Amino acid sequence: MPEISPADYDRIVVFTGAGMSAESGVPTYRGSGGIWHEYDWEAFACQQAFETNPHKVLAFHHVRRKAVLQCKPHAGHFILSQLENKYKNINIITQNIDGMHQRAGSGDVIELHGSLWRARCEQCGKSMEDYTGVQLEKSCVCGYDLRPAIVWFGDSLDENILEEALGIMENCDLFISIGTSGQVWPAAGFPMAAKQSGAILIEINTEANETSHIYDHSCRGKAGDVLMQVFGLWLER
Ligand code: OAD
Repeated sequence: MPEISPADYDRIVVFTGAGMSAESGVPTYRGSGGIWHEYDWEAFACQQAFETNPHKVLAFHHVRRKAVLQCKPHAGHFILSQLENKYKNINIITQNIDGMHQRAGSGDVIELHGSLWRARCEQCGKSMEDYTGVQLEKSCVCGYDLRPAIVWFGDSLDENILEEALGIMENCDLFISIGTSGQVWPAAGFPMAAKQSGAILIEINTEANETSHIYDHSCRGKAGDVLMQVFGLWLER
Protein backbone atom coordinates (compact mmCIF):
# COMPACT_ATOMS: atom_id res chain seq x y z
CA MET A 1 0.00 0.00 0.00
CA PRO A 2 1.42 3.42 -0.86
CA GLU A 3 2.12 5.86 1.93
CA ILE A 4 -0.96 7.96 2.55
CA SER A 5 -1.58 10.96 4.73
CA PRO A 6 -4.99 12.08 5.99
CA ALA A 7 -4.07 15.67 5.22
CA ASP A 8 -4.07 14.76 1.52
CA TYR A 9 -7.79 13.97 1.57
CA ASP A 10 -10.87 16.15 1.98
CA ARG A 11 -13.15 13.54 3.49
CA ILE A 12 -12.14 10.12 4.83
CA VAL A 13 -14.79 7.52 5.62
CA VAL A 14 -13.89 4.66 7.93
CA PHE A 15 -16.52 1.99 7.41
CA THR A 16 -16.49 -0.76 10.02
CA GLY A 17 -18.06 -4.18 10.41
CA ALA A 18 -17.95 -6.96 12.97
CA GLY A 19 -14.28 -7.76 12.23
CA MET A 20 -13.39 -4.40 13.76
CA SER A 21 -14.55 -5.66 17.15
CA ALA A 22 -13.26 -9.23 16.80
CA GLU A 23 -10.00 -8.48 18.63
CA SER A 24 -12.05 -7.08 21.50
CA GLY A 25 -13.65 -10.49 21.84
CA VAL A 26 -17.02 -9.61 20.28
CA PRO A 27 -17.96 -12.46 17.95
CA THR A 28 -18.52 -11.72 14.27
CA TYR A 29 -21.75 -12.80 12.56
CA ARG A 30 -20.38 -15.05 9.84
CA GLY A 31 -17.30 -17.25 9.59
CA SER A 32 -16.08 -19.48 12.38
CA GLY A 33 -17.54 -18.62 15.77
CA GLY A 34 -20.07 -16.32 14.08
CA ILE A 35 -23.27 -15.48 15.94
CA TRP A 36 -25.53 -16.69 13.11
CA HIS A 37 -23.99 -20.17 13.37
CA GLU A 38 -25.01 -20.41 17.00
CA TYR A 39 -28.32 -18.57 16.82
CA ASP A 40 -30.95 -18.72 14.12
CA TRP A 41 -31.61 -15.07 13.19
CA GLU A 42 -35.20 -15.96 12.29
CA ALA A 43 -35.80 -16.81 15.95
CA PHE A 44 -33.84 -13.91 17.46
CA ALA A 45 -33.28 -11.05 15.06
CA CYS A 46 -36.40 -10.12 13.16
CA GLN A 47 -39.66 -8.35 13.91
CA GLN A 48 -41.66 -11.54 13.51
CA ALA A 49 -39.58 -13.30 16.16
CA PHE A 50 -40.14 -10.34 18.49
CA GLU A 51 -43.88 -10.45 17.94
CA THR A 52 -43.99 -14.22 18.41
CA ASN A 53 -41.77 -14.43 21.47
CA PRO A 54 -40.61 -11.04 22.78
CA HIS A 55 -39.09 -12.54 25.95
CA LYS A 56 -36.84 -14.85 23.96
CA VAL A 57 -35.68 -12.01 21.69
CA LEU A 58 -35.12 -9.61 24.60
CA ALA A 59 -33.22 -12.31 26.52
CA PHE A 60 -30.93 -12.81 23.50
CA HIS A 61 -30.13 -9.10 23.37
CA HIS A 62 -29.67 -9.05 27.14
CA VAL A 63 -27.08 -11.83 26.86
CA ARG A 64 -25.33 -9.98 24.04
CA ARG A 65 -25.14 -6.72 26.02
CA LYS A 66 -23.74 -8.62 28.97
CA ALA A 67 -21.08 -10.25 26.78
CA VAL A 68 -20.17 -6.98 25.03
CA LEU A 69 -19.84 -5.14 28.36
CA GLN A 70 -17.15 -7.63 29.31
CA CYS A 71 -15.19 -6.73 26.16
CA LYS A 72 -13.09 -3.63 25.84
CA PRO A 73 -12.24 -1.48 22.84
CA HIS A 74 -8.79 -2.42 21.46
CA ALA A 75 -5.90 -0.28 20.28
CA GLY A 76 -7.42 0.06 16.80
CA HIS A 77 -10.59 1.65 18.21
CA PHE A 78 -8.44 4.13 20.13
CA ILE A 79 -6.31 4.95 17.10
CA LEU A 80 -9.47 5.80 15.17
CA SER A 81 -10.80 8.04 17.93
CA GLN A 82 -7.45 9.83 18.20
CA LEU A 83 -7.29 10.28 14.43
CA GLU A 84 -10.79 11.68 14.50
CA ASN A 85 -9.67 14.23 17.07
CA LYS A 86 -6.52 15.16 15.24
CA TYR A 87 -7.94 15.30 11.72
CA LYS A 88 -11.42 16.70 11.44
CA ASN A 89 -12.00 15.13 8.02
CA ILE A 90 -12.68 11.59 9.29
CA ASN A 91 -16.15 10.09 9.65
CA ILE A 92 -16.87 6.67 11.10
CA ILE A 93 -19.80 4.80 9.62
CA THR A 94 -20.35 1.47 11.35
CA GLN A 95 -22.54 -1.55 10.90
CA ASN A 96 -21.69 -2.56 14.46
CA ILE A 97 -24.24 -2.31 17.21
CA ASP A 98 -21.79 -2.87 20.06
CA GLY A 99 -20.90 0.76 20.83
CA MET A 100 -17.14 0.02 20.89
CA HIS A 101 -16.21 3.10 18.85
CA GLN A 102 -18.06 5.33 21.28
CA ARG A 103 -16.48 3.60 24.27
CA ALA A 104 -13.07 4.37 22.73
CA GLY A 105 -14.01 8.04 22.54
CA SER A 106 -15.24 8.42 18.97
CA GLY A 107 -17.97 10.97 18.56
CA ASP A 108 -20.60 11.30 15.83
CA VAL A 109 -20.43 7.64 14.86
CA ILE A 110 -23.08 6.82 12.28
CA GLU A 111 -24.65 3.54 13.37
CA LEU A 112 -26.28 2.10 10.28
CA HIS A 113 -27.74 -0.92 12.06
CA GLY A 114 -28.72 0.74 15.33
CA SER A 115 -27.39 -0.08 18.75
CA LEU A 116 -27.59 -2.78 21.39
CA TRP A 117 -27.68 0.07 23.89
CA ARG A 118 -30.78 1.77 22.57
CA ALA A 119 -34.46 0.88 22.72
CA ARG A 120 -37.21 2.59 20.80
CA CYS A 121 -40.94 3.00 20.99
CA GLU A 122 -42.86 2.13 17.84
CA GLN A 123 -45.83 4.08 19.14
CA CYS A 124 -44.44 7.55 19.89
CA GLY A 125 -41.02 7.29 18.25
CA LYS A 126 -39.00 8.07 21.41
CA SER A 127 -35.76 6.22 21.94
CA MET A 128 -33.78 5.59 25.10
CA GLU A 129 -30.07 4.95 25.26
CA ASP A 130 -27.84 3.58 28.00
CA TYR A 131 -24.29 2.55 27.16
CA THR A 132 -23.58 1.09 30.57
CA GLY A 133 -26.59 -0.90 31.66
CA VAL A 134 -27.22 -4.49 30.68
CA GLN A 135 -30.90 -4.02 31.42
CA LEU A 136 -32.59 -1.44 29.20
CA GLU A 137 -35.98 0.10 29.96
CA LYS A 138 -38.79 -2.21 28.85
CA SER A 139 -41.60 0.35 28.61
CA CYS A 140 -41.80 3.79 27.13
CA VAL A 141 -43.12 6.79 29.08
CA CYS A 142 -46.17 6.56 26.83
CA GLY A 143 -46.83 3.08 28.22
CA TYR A 144 -46.02 1.17 25.03
CA ASP A 145 -43.43 -1.65 24.98
CA LEU A 146 -39.97 -0.72 23.74
CA ARG A 147 -38.08 -2.81 21.22
CA PRO A 148 -34.32 -2.97 20.63
CA ALA A 149 -33.35 -0.12 18.29
CA ILE A 150 -31.53 -2.48 15.97
CA VAL A 151 -32.02 -3.00 12.28
CA TRP A 152 -33.11 -6.60 12.31
CA PHE A 153 -33.39 -8.79 9.24
CA GLY A 154 -36.27 -7.51 7.13
CA ASP A 155 -36.20 -4.03 8.73
CA SER A 156 -35.42 -0.94 6.71
CA LEU A 157 -32.58 1.29 7.71
CA ASP A 158 -33.53 4.56 9.37
CA GLU A 159 -33.99 6.93 6.41
CA ASN A 160 -32.32 9.90 8.11
CA ILE A 161 -29.28 7.86 9.07
CA LEU A 162 -28.97 6.38 5.59
CA GLU A 163 -29.29 9.83 4.03
CA GLU A 164 -26.63 11.25 6.36
CA ALA A 165 -24.27 8.38 5.55
CA LEU A 166 -24.81 8.66 1.80
CA GLY A 167 -24.30 12.44 1.96
CA ILE A 168 -20.90 11.93 3.58
CA MET A 169 -20.00 9.23 1.09
CA GLU A 170 -20.74 11.50 -1.85
CA ASN A 171 -17.93 13.78 -0.74
CA CYS A 172 -15.47 11.15 0.36
CA ASP A 173 -12.16 10.75 -1.41
CA LEU A 174 -10.69 8.01 0.80
CA PHE A 175 -12.80 5.07 1.96
CA ILE A 176 -11.33 2.60 4.45
CA SER A 177 -13.37 -0.52 5.04
CA ILE A 178 -12.52 -2.59 8.11
CA GLY A 179 -13.72 -6.10 8.93
CA THR A 180 -16.88 -6.52 6.92
CA SER A 181 -17.96 -9.43 4.74
CA GLY A 182 -19.96 -7.11 2.47
CA GLN A 183 -22.99 -9.38 2.48
CA VAL A 184 -25.65 -7.21 4.06
CA TRP A 185 -27.38 -4.55 2.01
CA PRO A 186 -27.58 -1.61 1.65
CA ALA A 187 -24.31 -1.32 3.60
CA ALA A 188 -22.65 -3.76 1.19
CA GLY A 189 -23.09 -1.15 -1.55
CA PHE A 190 -21.17 1.56 0.30
CA PRO A 191 -17.69 0.72 -1.04
CA MET A 192 -18.96 0.86 -4.63
CA ALA A 193 -20.85 4.09 -3.93
CA ALA A 194 -17.61 5.60 -2.61
CA LYS A 195 -15.72 4.38 -5.66
CA GLN A 196 -18.29 5.98 -7.93
CA SER A 197 -17.75 9.24 -6.03
CA GLY A 198 -14.10 9.00 -7.01
CA ALA A 199 -12.73 7.77 -3.68
CA ILE A 200 -9.68 5.55 -3.26
CA LEU A 201 -10.75 2.34 -1.52
CA ILE A 202 -8.72 0.51 1.13
CA GLU A 203 -9.80 -2.79 2.63
CA ILE A 204 -8.59 -4.13 5.98
CA ASN A 205 -9.69 -7.69 6.54
CA THR A 206 -8.13 -10.94 7.69
CA GLU A 207 -9.36 -12.57 4.49
CA ALA A 208 -10.56 -11.74 0.99
CA ASN A 209 -14.23 -11.93 0.08
CA GLU A 210 -16.39 -11.39 -3.02
CA THR A 211 -16.13 -7.62 -2.70
CA SER A 212 -12.35 -7.45 -2.30
CA HIS A 213 -11.68 -6.93 -6.01
CA ILE A 214 -13.24 -3.47 -6.01
CA TYR A 215 -10.69 -2.11 -3.53
CA ASP A 216 -7.59 -0.28 -4.70
CA HIS A 217 -5.52 -1.67 -1.83
CA SER A 218 -6.13 -4.60 0.49
CA CYS A 219 -4.39 -5.05 3.84
CA ARG A 220 -4.64 -8.64 5.04
CA GLY A 221 -4.42 -8.74 8.80
CA LYS A 222 -6.29 -8.06 11.99
CA ALA A 223 -7.94 -4.67 12.25
CA GLY A 224 -6.06 -3.64 15.40
CA ASP A 225 -2.69 -4.75 14.04
CA VAL A 226 -3.10 -3.03 10.67
CA LEU A 227 -4.46 0.14 12.24
CA MET A 228 -1.49 0.28 14.57
CA GLN A 229 1.07 -0.46 11.86
CA VAL A 230 -0.28 1.76 9.12
CA PHE A 231 -2.53 4.37 10.63
CA GLY A 232 -0.82 4.71 14.00
CA LEU A 233 1.86 6.57 12.04
CA TRP A 234 -0.68 9.25 11.18
CA LEU A 235 -0.82 10.22 14.82
CA GLU A 236 2.89 10.96 14.84
CA ARG A 237 2.73 13.37 11.93
P1 OAD B 1 -19.56 -10.49 9.24
O1 OAD B 1 -19.56 -11.38 10.42
O2 OAD B 1 -20.45 -10.84 8.11
O3 OAD B 1 -18.10 -10.36 8.64
C1 OAD B 1 -16.99 -10.12 9.46
C2 OAD B 1 -15.79 -9.82 8.58
O4 OAD B 1 -14.70 -9.47 9.43
C3 OAD B 1 -15.33 -11.02 7.73
O5 OAD B 1 -15.08 -10.54 6.41
C4 OAD B 1 -14.01 -11.47 8.40
O6 OAD B 1 -13.08 -11.97 7.43
C5 OAD B 1 -13.53 -10.16 8.99
N1 OAD B 1 -12.69 -10.29 10.21
C6 OAD B 1 -12.78 -11.19 11.21
N2 OAD B 1 -11.89 -10.92 12.17
C7 OAD B 1 -11.22 -9.82 11.78
C8 OAD B 1 -10.18 -9.02 12.36
N3 OAD B 1 -9.65 -9.30 13.55
N4 OAD B 1 -9.74 -7.96 11.66
C9 OAD B 1 -10.25 -7.66 10.45
N5 OAD B 1 -11.24 -8.35 9.86
C10 OAD B 1 -11.71 -9.41 10.51
O7 OAD B 1 -19.86 -9.02 9.80
P2 OAD B 1 -20.46 -7.74 9.04
O8 OAD B 1 -19.96 -7.64 7.64
O9 OAD B 1 -20.23 -6.58 9.94
O10 OAD B 1 -26.37 -6.85 11.35
O11 OAD B 1 -21.99 -8.08 9.02
C11 OAD B 1 -22.92 -7.14 8.55
C12 OAD B 1 -24.19 -7.23 9.35
O12 OAD B 1 -24.66 -8.58 9.35
C13 OAD B 1 -24.04 -6.88 10.80
O13 OAD B 1 -24.11 -5.50 11.05
C14 OAD B 1 -25.17 -7.61 11.46
C15 OAD B 1 -25.22 -8.88 10.63
O14 OAD B 1 -26.45 -9.47 10.49
C16 OAD B 1 -27.06 -6.58 12.51
O15 OAD B 1 -26.76 -6.99 13.59
C17 OAD B 1 -28.23 -5.71 12.33
